[in-house]
Amino acid sequence: MTQKITPLIAGNWKMNGDAGSFLEVEVIKDRLAANEVNAQVVICPPATLLHRVSVALHESAAKTGAQNCHAAPSGAHTGDISVAMVREAGGEYVIVGHSERRESYVESNADVKAKAAAALGGGVVPIICCGESLEIRESGKAIDVVVAQIIASCPDFDQSQEIVVAYEPIWAIGTGKTASSGDVDEMHNAIRAALVERFGDAGAKIKILYGGSVKPANAEELLGVENVNGALVGGASLKADDFWGIISAA
Ligand code: PGA
Repeated sequence: MTQKITPLIAGNWKMNGDAGSFLEVEVIKDRLAANEVNAQVVICPPATLLHRVSVALHESAAKTGAQNCHAAPSGAHTGDISVAMVREAGGEYVIVGHSERRESYVESNADVKAKAAAALGGGVVPIICCGESLEIRESGKAIDVVVAQIIASCPDFDQSQEIVVAYEPIWAIGTGKTASSGDVDEMHNAIRAALVERFGDAGAKIKILYGGSVKPANAEELLGVENVNGALVGGASLKADDFWGIISAA
């Protein structure tokens, strides 16, 4: 079932970063230019910095993405940004359904699916997030819950399009705790099986990222797990040295 998939290392800056962050972006750009890297690198800064980071990374192997988008193409949606706006700002990816948004803005699987479908329609690759709470993990239902969540959040797509899935156990995000490689292996295999069942051959090629306290010290082990095709990195993506440590581990 496993195919050779180029890993994707995506940095999610969340609500962090300012003009000073460009130093970090420049370091990543320089190191990518000077080293052979076996990974696609994506930086997702806050929306206000997306265009500037995209310009800074012009002609670099790294790409940029947004952290959210609206499902509608335009309209009366104060504070939101559309897929076309993401694209115009240089973004080629968009994170949808991050657990922080599912929780703070009560985004449902149907909302996430609509955003992902809008992203595909606008030529942007959605990074569709899923993950269980500690309560669900302890109840032994994590696999069932996450598989149901991801299947309900993924739109149909055609051969010219790409979707990316990110598994992020909520209790591991920003806590310094990571899932054991055994648990990650079990979850990613279950997600892979569900994606293949739903999408056939195309499901075997979808990148499944792991996220939740990924850092240089644990990246090699996590990225070595079967069906882990990259990482969605929060805190450790803010410092170029840490982010580079994860990129090199791929
Ligand atoms: P973290 O965040 O790496 O800081 O745990 C990951 C994420 O929320 O995407």
